[in-house]
Amino acid sequence: MKIHPELYQKYNKPTPRYTSYPPANYFKEVDDYTQIVEAIKASNNENPQNISIYIHIPFCCQLCSYCGCNTLITSNEKLISTYVDTILKEIDLLKPLLDPNRKISQIHWGGGTPNFLPITDIQKIMGKLYANFDTIKQPEIAMECHPAHLTKEYVDGLVELGFNRLSFGIQDFNEQVLEAVNRQKPLLPIDEIIAHIKSYPQISLNLDFIYGLPFQNLKDYAKTIEQATELSPDRLAVFSYAHVPWIKKQQKSLEKFGLPTAEEKIALFEQAYDILTAKDYVPIGLDHFAKPEDELSKALKTKQLHRNFQGYCTLDTTGQVYALGVSGISQLHSAYLQNTKSITKYIKSINKGVFPIERYYFVNQNEKIIRDVIEQIMCNMYVDFKQVAGKYDLRVEEIYNLTKVDFRNISEFQAEGLLNFADDVLELTRQGQFFMRNIAASFDPNMKNNQKNFSKAL
Ligand SMILES: C[S@@+](CC[C@H](N)C(=O)[O-])C[C@H]1O[C@@H](n2cnc3c(N)ncnc32)[C@H](O)[C@@H]1O
Ligand code: SF4
Repeated sequence: MKIHPELYQKYNKPTPRYTSYPPANYFKEVDDYTQIVEAIKASNNENPQNISIYIHIPFCCQLCSYCGCNTLITSNEKLISTYVDTILKEIDLLKPLLDPNRKISQIHWGGGTPNFLPITDIQKIMGKLYANFDTIKQPEIAMECHPAHLTKEYVDGLVELGFNRLSFGIQDFNEQVLEAVNRQKPLLPIDEIIAHIKSYPQISLNLDFIYGLPFQNLKDYAKTIEQATELSPDRLAVFSYAHVPWIKKQQKSLEKFGLPTAEEKIALFEQAYDILTAKDYVPIGLDHFAKPEDELSKALKTKQLHRNFQGYCTLDTTGQVYALGVSGISQLHSAYLQNTKSITKYIKSINKGVFPIERYYFVNQNEKIIRDVIEQIMCNMYVDFKQVAGKYDLRVEEIYNLTKVDFRNISEFQAEGLLNFADDVLELTRQGQFFMRNIAASFDPNMKNNQKNFSKAL
């Protein structure tokens, strides 16, 4: 695939990633705690009925210079075990608010590095969840892992606890790149630990890569992606490096090595795309690839793909998300609720029996409709506006009006070969898939007079 240089120059401007709508920088400071508790209770009467649990473990033992996640570099065992106990208390706080008939369909451990915790801590939290909630027949239980801390015994422990999805941060196989970004080496050779994981057929494996880091070039990055396909993961994520040094100060340190230009970045992605699609991986959304038999590829085919802060998922298993731990964001049907990012405040608040929620956003009906349209673009690359109108009992013109879409922009995208729009159906082309954030933004009324800071679209 070749992305036209004039198009990426035109569209490579700050644009939301749309992991939520409205994006997290629209969230407000909590001023009325009772309203927050009421929002959690109200979620029992909304869909989806399934419960997705997100558990944020911020700890890492070394800071990767590119990292945009919410992390805390520590080896303070006392702090870590207090944090684990606090998550157990947070479950106690949440449990009485949720309808006991509701079941867990997903548990996602993210970070930071969740596998930095001893397996006994994972057992404690999983045991508490299983003791307090029923699960659907085949819940998805996932962990984001750093291979620097992963042993075969640890994998065995996770399997025993019901984990069936593991994701590894690889980023690149090139040692010069990994050294420049201060990335710890894997504990075991990657092929060895993956062979062990594959001895468990129930585990689906994802590998994360990043393009746009110092010292990455076409020749070496091709080797990295080829090597990735030889490991045959079920899914891969190939993330565009988001350089936001005004938020993540340590990223500034990468500038001394020189970062690839926008043109070089695009070429790295194009090449990864070509290698992966030649090996039959199906492009999913902005930056994911999945084997054709993977649920995500199947869901894309039937336009049932969905997305939350934890990534792409299928409508079957996704529930409303209840987040535990620092900085976690609950994604309820009508509200986003974000826990404090300060670990001290988090522990103090839970010990007082108060949810540590600092920021929130209540989503109104119009925003839910816009969210639906944007999610369809970001996931399924397809919107049938008549269908959306039918779902909300509105006329199709009313949908267009509330998104404040300017049809001159849509005609421009169409003339550029990025989408087809006819008979109230919008469909992105392969080329358009790469510009989906820009296309989604044209249906976001907030972007008409946007003053917020986002990372660049590409
Ligand atoms: C929580 S980490 C994964 C688990 C573990 N901490 C690790 O690094 O292996 C989530 C993923 O986000 C991606 N990531 C982190 N910072 C990023 C950035 N600034 N731009 C793009 N992707 C980033 C990386 O690919 C990383 O694997
Ligand atoms: S990339 Fe992973 S290991 Fe590295 S600092 Fe970020 S969360 Fe920690």
